[in-house]
Amino acid sequence: MKRLAILASGSGSNAEKIMEYFKDSQKATISLVASNKADAFVLERARKFGVPTFTFTRKEMDAGLLLNKLQEEKIDWVILAGFLLKIPEDLIRAFPDHMVNIHPALLPKYGGKGMYGHHVHEAVKAAGDTETGITIHLVNEHYDEGKIIFQAATSLTEEDTPDTIAQKVHALEHRYFPEVIDSLMEK
Ligand code: GRF
Repeated sequence: MKRLAILASGSGSNAEKIMEYFKDSQKATISLVASNKADAFVLERARKFGVPTFTFTRKEMDAGLLLNKLQEEKIDWVILAGFLLKIPEDLIRAFPDHMVNIHPALLPKYGGKGMYGHHVHEAVKAAGDTETGITIHLVNEHYDEGKIIFQAATSLTEEDTPDTIAQKVHALEHRYFPEVIDSLMEK
């Protein structure tokens, strides 16, 4: 049984879908939800599923406390689901090809520094793109440049706003992220 940890900084709607998906799984279990924000709603969602939580500051993460916790909990896979801090290199190196992130755009477009959440959808709208989507990728020290595992797209019209774009993207995330994680558990 693979042990998964979810790192999230915010609401955690993706984390909820993942906990829901794996709650009766024989393949993997969500062993921990960790956040750098003590008031992040993702922690509430974890408590609802009876999943242990762990909170930490950026300083504690950079000092290795998060890595220690993941090793203590014998975590096999780290899932980033709306985690907004830069992952320390020693943490990435401790999970080679076993750290996964979801990005709310079709990388390599709209990736990199500052491209998160609504900023992405605003940029897609400003560019007048006729499609956007999600990218699920492995995390390496260059963050949004890790090996792409999965992408899904959705079409856009001129009527779309950053808010409706966000809704379409979230729908793709909730539909595909749990299944893509499940497909990785074979490795
Ligand atoms: C998602 O849009 C994801 O693509 C991005 O952060 C957002 C997290 O949303 N990395 P939620 O907290 O899971 O609702």
